[in-house]
Amino acid sequence: MLYPGIIKKYLDFLPVAETSIVTLHEGNTPLFESQRLVKELKLPIKLFYKLEGLNPTGSFKDRGMTYAVSKAHEAGFKAVICASTGNTSAAAAAYAARAGMQALVVIPKGKVALGKLAQAQIHGAKVFQVDGNFDQALNVVKEVAEHPKVSLVNSINPYRLMGQQSAAFEIVESLGDAPDYHFIPVGNAGNIVAYWRGYKKFYEIAKAKKLPKMCGFQAAGAAPIVEGHVIEHPETVATAIRIGNPANWKFAEEVAAESQGFIKAVTDEEILDAYRKVAQIDGYFCEPASAASLAGVIKMAQSGFFKSGDTVVCTLTGHGLKDPDQAIQQSPPPIPISADAQALLKHINL
Ligand code: F0G
Repeated sequence: MLYPGIIKKYLDFLPVAETSIVTLHEGNTPLFESQRLVKELKLPIKLFYKLEGLNPTGSFKDRGMTYAVSKAHEAGFKAVICASTGNTSAAAAAYAARAGMQALVVIPKGKVALGKLAQAQIHGAKVFQVDGNFDQALNVVKEVAEHPKVSLVNSINPYRLMGQQSAAFEIVESLGDAPDYHFIPVGNAGNIVAYWRGYKKFYEIAKAKKLPKMCGFQAAGAAPIVEGHVIEHPETVATAIRIGNPANWKFAEEVAAESQGFIKAVTDEEILDAYRKVAQIDGYFCEPASAASLAGVIKMAQSGFFKSGDTVVCTLTGHGLKDPDQAIQQSPPPIPISADAQALLKHINL
């Protein structure tokens, strides 16, 4: 049987008219166990990565976008609009194309990774860039979304978070229960809320016997929740989470408290270190913002936080190819050689 995407798979939780379902068969992403990295860093845990970069547009946004665009289609909207650090706009553009709707996307100037911009453009979105950051772009789209034919598909749209719960459902189905801890990057703070709601639903219907502690990580230069105030000029190499005033701030704080978890910060150095490590030791290429969750795992492990045998799931939210510039900057350049084997052999040392 063809895998139908998350709406048909979890229709009880995601009701919509069958004829309005807009899907790219998102979801059903692998839960992949760390092997070499846990050994090399002597992490005492069972660590799993939820590989959300393997969704159709390369990030977890597809889970929320399939449902938000389906509901917009059902309600007769002609266009969807979002502000974005890149991934939401890529997903909005792709799902709008699939639905035959117009996508309007507003991005901060100069801070959107190349792959994400390319996606929004090739899917035919109208792309606007503001001379400001994500938070300012979000203010613009909230106003435009008052237009009767335009549906807002940022994570303040409740359907987005409902769709994104499906990642937690899949994790419980893969592990047979919830993990002890769930580590996740925090930007606009929607995804941490969505996972928690998903885990709680599966707990309530007895598909999970326990609930995880939700542990969110912001980038230190863009950590309003950690610092307790809006950051006017957020800065981080993890451009996807370069957000100074998250829309779901209050909900995210409630999730951290209710689940007995926390929201902390990791520095750009810690993020980039985890970004290289997961690529070079465990063989998976994620984008820098995604590595904030793994940077958090490493940092907490080094401070003796975990008990031996704890199960930890770490969401790697977006694919590394989204931001090729960063990968190239973090790696040695190609070695120029003449076109013969001897020239190459001089450089290897096995
Ligand atoms: N990781 C990636 C790769 C993201 O693109 C985002 C958010 C996050 C983590 C944080 O998730 O906002 O739910 O806390 N990207 C949004 C965007 C803001 O516009 O693509 P969150």
